[in-house]
Amino acid sequence: MVSRRILYCSSEAYPLIKTGGLGDVAGSLPRALQQLGHDVRLLLPAYRDLLQNLSHRPRHLIELTIDNYPVVLWQTTLPGSRVVTWLVDCPPLFDRPGNPYHDADGEPWPDNAQRFALFDQVAARLAVGQPGLDWQPDIIHGNDWQCGLIPVYLESQPDRPGSVFTIHNLAYQGIFDRPAFEELGLPESLWHFSRLEYYGRFSFIKGGLVYADRVTTVSPTYAREIQTATFGHGMEGVLAHRSDRLSGILNGIDTRTWNPGTDRFIVKRYNRRHLADKQANKAALQAHFGLPQTDESMLIGMVSRLVEQKGIDLVLDSLPRLFSLPVQLVILGSGDKRYERVLQQAIEQYPRKLAVTIGYDEKLAHRIEAGADLFLMPSRFEPCGLNQMYSQRYGTLPLVTAVGGLVDTVIDAAGEALQRGEASGFVMREVSTAALQASLQRAVRRYQTPLSWRQLQQFAMQRDFSWERSASAYTELYEQALRDSRTP
Ligand code: ADP
Ligand code: GLC
Repeated sequence: MVSRRILYCSSEAYPLIKTGGLGDVAGSLPRALQQLGHDVRLLLPAYRDLLQNLSHRPRHLIELTIDNYPVVLWQTTLPGSRVVTWLVDCPPLFDRPGNPYHDADGEPWPDNAQRFALFDQVAARLAVGQPGLDWQPDIIHGNDWQCGLIPVYLESQPDRPGSVFTIHNLAYQGIFDRPAFEELGLPESLWHFSRLEYYGRFSFIKGGLVYADRVTTVSPTYAREIQTATFGHGMEGVLAHRSDRLSGILNGIDTRTWNPGTDRFIVKRYNRRHLADKQANKAALQAHFGLPQTDESMLIGMVSRLVEQKGIDLVLDSLPRLFSLPVQLVILGSGDKRYERVLQQAIEQYPRKLAVTIGYDEKLAHRIEAGADLFLMPSRFEPCGLNQMYSQRYGTLPLVTAVGGLVDTVIDAAGEALQRGEASGFVMREVSTAALQASLQRAVRRYQTPLSWRQLQQFAMQRDFSWERSASAYTELYEQALRDSRTP
């Protein structure tokens, strides 16, 4: 394998800053690439919260001026790794409290176009060899709409690296009005439906989809789905047009952070051979939430952004029928205020069966993975999904819909797979309250047959979701991107 210099750009990376799965991926794929022998630099915006999470003072690298904004590039390492991490510090754009993308009321920061355009310009400058750094990448890899303009800024550069753009979620496209396009001073020639224009508006993500040498998404099934009208969020045409450059590479998981044998957040550590110890985590979780501590009830866990994508509305609509079964449900999540409100109200109706924490809590997320019997993920679409993989590692069988990465990672407990002892969860064939109820019934029946349940847990826990395979797939893709970048 040829070792390459890779500039990996992301708007979040665990443990410095995370709002969802992209943070997990950007916090672990660069390390996996480094372990394969690549020379990787991770590039992130220096948000206030991120700077507060650093354990050491970062090293000053260079200063730049972009669109009249002063920018300092700092160097640190991603905590828990040796991945060199560069931080794009521009206080007027990134020094503000809270979430990277929106304010405390959930409203997008009004200057998001400027914020991420500046980040992308810095990335593009580094990509062509910024003086004073003595390091130029062979490959630049951007993620999601926030990085969409990187290949656009690089388009006309003669000595540019190969570019890869990864879609983690096509529902988020970075769409702005025409004035934002004008304020960025982008050439008028880009205002065209085959470029950045999208139904009279300006789309960041199209930059990545149209201009990157290679486009990937995070599971093979989602790569196919997004070329159809049902899952394409209006981008199916653009994507179908680039289908020869589009592929799906399944995410891996950070097997050090998500390991029931070493997890420092959980009450009792366990593994496949000491599965009985999982029970202490269930009891602790029930106690934490003030639910009756019984093993009769199957404890269902859900950790999720509370948005339509995740099927939370389906769960809410199913509550009366769901609670006719011997189950308890614990939910950790935050997102749409209307779902948060309805959930709060539902607790009063089912105090002995339902518990909810609204918020973001990394530790509690681990405790739910360890303590629940079943993990619920009835997504309407799911580019990859990580929790269903974490769940399998924790022997917490996932119940999922048959979409995207969920199809590619969960083996339904039915038919031959079940007979061979090679099933790892429950897959609903359609997205409806009736299908959810039927699958839950199926899961409860299995749960009531402890031997069979344990066999599923054992199989799920030994499955390999580590990054190695996917990091090799990216390595191959980088070579293709390099070749493409050199072919006019
Ligand atoms: P998505 O990126 O669409 O939200 P993923 O399944 O890929 O979905 O990743 C979600 C990640 O965010 C997981 O690591 C999950 O544990 C975490 N997460 C989501 N909501 C919360 C929350 N409220 N508290 C803690 N972690 C959360
Ligand atoms: C997105 C997707 C999720 C995926 C994650 C990481 O947020 O919604 O399915 O696992 O990105 O790739």
